[in-house]
Amino acid sequence: MYQIHRPRILRQSSAIRSLVAETILKPSDFILPLFIDEGENVEFEIPSMPGYFRRSIDGTVKEVKELWSMGIKSVLLFVKAPDDLKDNTGKEAWNPDGLMQRSIKAIKDAVAEMIVMTDVALDPYSIYGHDGIVENGEIVNDQTVEALVKMSLSHAKAGADFVAPSDMMDGRIFAIRKALEENNFTKTGIMAYSAKYASCFYGPFRDALDSAPGFGDKKTYQMDYANRIEAVKEALMDEEEGADIVMVKPAMAYLDIIREVKNNVQIPVSAYHVSGEYALIKAGAKMGWINEEKAILESLTSIKRAGADLIATYFAKDAVKLINL
Ligand code: PBG
Repeated sequence: MYQIHRPRILRQSSAIRSLVAETILKPSDFILPLFIDEGENVEFEIPSMPGYFRRSIDGTVKEVKELWSMGIKSVLLFVKAPDDLKDNTGKEAWNPDGLMQRSIKAIKDAVAEMIVMTDVALDPYSIYGHDGIVENGEIVNDQTVEALVKMSLSHAKAGADFVAPSDMMDGRIFAIRKALEENNFTKTGIMAYSAKYASCFYGPFRDALDSAPGFGDKKTYQMDYANRIEAVKEALMDEEEGADIVMVKPAMAYLDIIREVKNNVQIPVSAYHVSGEYALIKAGAKMGWINEEKAILESLTSIKRAGADLIATYFAKDAVKLINL
């Protein structure tokens, strides 16, 4: 009796395993989301995201310098707008001196090569905490798209390398691409949140930015997690409308979607390992029920293996330290 195939041969030592590993994480795979607040010397630990902070611009710039020195090449910016600047039009979103616009400039001034991506959606600026303009209890699509176009142009003008629309309105990628072209922003990219699901895993993020919806939920614009084919349709639409990168979000419960999208588009795919996914690992580790470092590496490797070329994750710094060990 003999065996033709002994798959354990390739697993017998860590040296052989590393020789045949199909998926290898590297620092430039990661996009680190950053939460930014007004003020100076502000460093606020998000209660539901232990070890993760919302900082003022000064601290954010310091952080960005460190990230660059670690080999992390991209950040995704989110700001916490003061309550008195919130309304139903979201107009603070395109204020040339707004917190987002000042943050972009400060980061590019400090580390010119850092790729700055910006969240484009009205929720931090909306009195209703919704991603779009509200009329009669509904989130209106086309007026919101006009606002998102103004917001994107103002980010491009401030120096953003990529705008990242996370709002899930119909037709916004084409509208933003057209406006960028018309205004001569021919080097500004679009990372489209193409398959963004209405997910409970965004909970801690809404804590971080105080942006929970004031009424209802986001199910009339974010996708139903029961659906897979719709994700492919959304990604293909965004590719055709001019997106440079498409995104699937969240990540771990959506690995099938990441693979499906990867197999269907001809542009890079990113995945967003979201706040709730971060919180779960942190909570499990705190209870002593899960090994945090191993959970980070296994999660991120699985997301990349599923087909993500890029991963937005709050664990980017931890991951870089772990893969350099
Ligand atoms: C806002 C936005 C959200 C996230 C990214 N952009 C929240 C939401 O849609 O309610 C979630 C990110 C995370 O949970 O880490 N449009």
